Amino acid sequence: MSIKSTMLIDKNFTISAVDPRLYGSFIEHLGRAVYGGIYEPNHPTADENGFRRDALDAIRALNVPIIRYPGGNFVSGYNWEDGVGPKADRRRLLELAWWTTETNEVGTNEFADWAKLVGSEVMMAVNLGTRGIDAARNLVEYCNHPSGSYWSDLRISHGYKEPHRFKTWCLGNEMDGPWQIGAKTAVEYGRLANETAKAMRWVDPTIELVACGSSSSGMDTFAEWEATVLDLTYDQVDFLSLHTYYNNNENDSSNFLARSLDMDQFIQSVSAICDYVKAKKRSKKKLMLSLDEWNVWNSIGSSRAEERWQVAPPEFEDTYTMEDALAVGCFLITLLKHADRVKMACIAQLINVIAPIMTENGGPLWLQTTYYPYLHASLYGRGTVLQPIISSPKYDSKDFTDVPYLEAISVYNEEQGEVTIFAVNRHLSEMLELDVDVRSFGDISVMEHVVLENEDIKAVNTKSNPANVVPHNRGTAKVDGGHVKAMLTKASWNVIRLRIKNV
Ligand code: AHR
Repeated sequence: MSIKSTMLIDKNFTISAVDPRLYGSFIEHLGRAVYGGIYEPNHPTADENGFRRDALDAIRALNVPIIRYPGGNFVSGYNWEDGVGPKADRRRLLELAWWTTETNEVGTNEFADWAKLVGSEVMMAVNLGTRGIDAARNLVEYCNHPSGSYWSDLRISHGYKEPHRFKTWCLGNEMDGPWQIGAKTAVEYGRLANETAKAMRWVDPTIELVACGSSSSGMDTFAEWEATVLDLTYDQVDFLSLHTYYNNNENDSSNFLARSLDMDQFIQSVSAICDYVKAKKRSKKKLMLSLDEWNVWNSIGSSRAEERWQVAPPEFEDTYTMEDALAVGCFLITLLKHADRVKMACIAQLINVIAPIMTENGGPLWLQTTYYPYLHASLYGRGTVLQPIISSPKYDSKDFTDVPYLEAISVYNEEQGEVTIFAVNRHLSEMLELDVDVRSFGDISVMEHVVLENEDIKAVNTKSNPANVVPHNRGTAKVDGGHVKAMLTKASWNVIRLRIKNV
């Protein structure tokens, strides 16, 4: 049995160019993300600086454009000065966000070195929990000012003659959350963020700044928080952040796979609030969105480590299923649908902590199911997003109505002469026939049709079975008179790559 869907794409109907930073990620000093993830000096693959080469390879392959650092909740108690200078002099300190001991072996400069190795920009976050304007402006001076001032010369004395020139900076993290060290009201935060932004820009006028939105759309203060914070910061910031995590802890797969509709609504709501403030201020500036924490998070709410003050204990090491990969695929498609507004997004996080990549201390690395949709989107989702016209049968679930079985988008890469269709068949038991009208592109051919699927939607990859859920390119897509026709298997993630001839 199968159901039918159609999609029309036209190279002239565009949503927006994709900002590559849509495929960003996040590494926090949390669990084994840093220690045991990217950095483990005694690991057999470690390079001369202690970075795991197996992790470098897996992350390089993803072509991650930007990585948020050092937190997360961690940043709200972090004194960046503790993480620079000779390692032997760095202090071990109690870390209050996650109740661990931070050794400070990795800090700003090491992370900058590591990010260079994987080819990523750094999205730096400043501490607006326990600290404020002074620490933030000094950090910008330390990182970005060439030389001739106390903080820039200190960086040089630490062995970094060239400034890091970090462009993107987050003004704190989730400052509305009572769990946050130094949580604030919207007015307290808005005032502080505005003044901090001013000072940071006076040090380096080229930086871009992200103000904290709500920790999630479920917060009691959601919407009011955004409106108040933007009212107080609008002229000084470039982005507003959104954070959102989903899970299938209710074990209702149809409902879970519809959660991207919630992300869609969240983006629309926050865009509307930004535009409300824009109108109120008669501003010409359109504020962009940074979805700088999003993912499936099954262990959410399990809070901090039971035993306090361990060094890098395993935390939030979720094992992702086939259906989690489908959800991640739907989230990526949703981000692309909003590429005109969402210019940055970070899958949270990158390694070991709610992550597509897992490692064992002293042992191997393996890739989770969710690695693959992220990989495909990052590699092939660059160019211009096209506005599709889709017709698909729909279903209702516990929390959603009119959920299309087909979730799809396409990205046109004119330079490469390629169009890529990303498509999820949400149906758990039926195949979906897809017919895409591609006549506007003229003569095209199918380069490959990659599929991620598994008979068991709860199938996972583990250390002992790392290739249980991996993509294959035996998809059925073929060109048929200006149309691409494909059979999307039940509960599958599909990447149909088309070559445009005569470009
Ligand atoms: O990504 C894990 C945590 O989730 C981050 O530290 C925090 O910002 C969010 O609540």
